[in-house]
Amino acid sequence: MKLRVYIGSVRLRRLVLCSKPHTALIITKHFRSHSSLNFGLCGLSAFPAPVIPFLPVSGRKKVAVIPGDGIGKEVIPQAVKVLEASDAPVELTHFDWGADRYLEDKTTVPPDGFAMLGREFDSILAGAFGDPRVPSNIHAKEILLGMRTQMDLYANVRPVRLLDASLCPLKGVEPKDLDFVVIRENTEGVYVDSGSISKQGTEDEVAVQEDVNTWKGVRRIIRYAFEYCEHHKKSDSTPRSRILMCDKSNAMTYAGSLWQRLFKELGAEYPQLKCEHMYVDALCAQMVRDPRQFDVIVTNNMFGDILTDLAAGLQGGLGMAASGNIHPGKTSMFEPVHGSAPPLAGKNIANPIGAILTAAMMLTHLGFQKAGARIESAVLEAVRQKKTTQDVGGNLGTEEVGEWVVQKVSEP
Ligand code: NAD
Ligand code: IPM
Ligand code: MN
Repeated sequence: MKLRVYIGSVRLRRLVLCSKPHTALIITKHFRSHSSLNFGLCGLSAFPAPVIPFLPVSGRKKVAVIPGDGIGKEVIPQAVKVLEASDAPVELTHFDWGADRYLEDKTTVPPDGFAMLGREFDSILAGAFGDPRVPSNIHAKEILLGMRTQMDLYANVRPVRLLDASLCPLKGVEPKDLDFVVIRENTEGVYVDSGSISKQGTEDEVAVQEDVNTWKGVRRIIRYAFEYCEHHKKSDSTPRSRILMCDKSNAMTYAGSLWQRLFKELGAEYPQLKCEHMYVDALCAQMVRDPRQFDVIVTNNMFGDILTDLAAGLQGGLGMAASGNIHPGKTSMFEPVHGSAPPLAGKNIANPIGAILTAAMMLTHLGFQKAGARIESAVLEAVRQKKTTQDVGGNLGTEEVGEWVVQKVSEP
């Protein structure tokens, strides 16, 4: 029997299910996190009896929650409250990975940590990592960047959406004008952190930071962006039709050449989409001059990092921005775009909306679109009624915003 497996719109691979129980078991285990396949298998009456102990597969999803440091420990509990109020069938398990744990016993990621997350959870909800008590930032590097690279979460999807005109620092920009998505490569580029320092401490010192771009890595993120553009509508239900690749190929010619060639090659497969290109410096200027012109932007790891802080500014600030670190078919991780904001921590003033929208994004990814949409509507209402923290014009605390959204989500 042949079965095509789709995650959203992306075909994973063609599976051949045979009547040998062990074959079916392996497939079931490997794709455990995907409801489309789980339901598909549940519906297969032709399976022999030995497979039955794996069925029926529950629709309940297991989520690992890792609040991390600073305001991560304040905004994630709000997102969790809202998740619970949404009635989505998720089972949450909390982990204490972060600076406190590191300072206590020097653990950043426990042995087998990432493999365990991949094996036992359907997704991860993370806060932020970074603490002034750990100046080396080693725990953040190992937990956050480790999760992205070792779990191969190659697509960092960062939606940029204006919920209310009052939040945008630009004149005359309405919610319909600011609704694009940055697809950031998440496993390569300068983030591989390889390089060298020679003649340290002398006037001849040279520090080299390498920018690694592989054919496979660049191709898969560009492919992801084209598929995303084709299959994800804007909030007002109009299709996305423009895809823009951003690089710095006028100065960084080796990496630029690879990105340019692959964007052109894959673009030919999507004649219905308009392919565009901008250098990253020009894109910064355009983003604040006229953000209406963007639907999907695909770019490398570092440019994506910088552009999404700029874009968060257009949405009302870092406290408003959500993101997902995704590998189709694998356990993916969702986190707000902002960091641990040490000056805000412990004061009940951090904006929890980015974290709450991140939880909604995760639910949608897990297949609970209705619950995700209900949370998004509740947040929209909170913003319209100014039931928000001070950074976005309200006068509530972090917990009170969370509580308000919980009440809204719980309304029949
Ligand atoms: P940051 O995002 O933590 O904060 C920058 C500023 O943005 C804050 O001072 C505040 O004014 C504002 N801000 C951020 N989040 C907010 C929120 N929820 N509500 C209201 N205002 C908010 O960036 P930073 O100060 O450059 O970094 C602080 C630490 O966080 C560093 O250790 C950094 O490495 C780390 N960091 C971690 C992540 C992550 O884990 N994903 C992301 C970015 C930064
Ligand atoms: C982000 C952060 C991280 C990044 C830092 C904390 C390493 O800024 O998630 O945007 O640069 O990716
Ligand atoms: Mn960043």
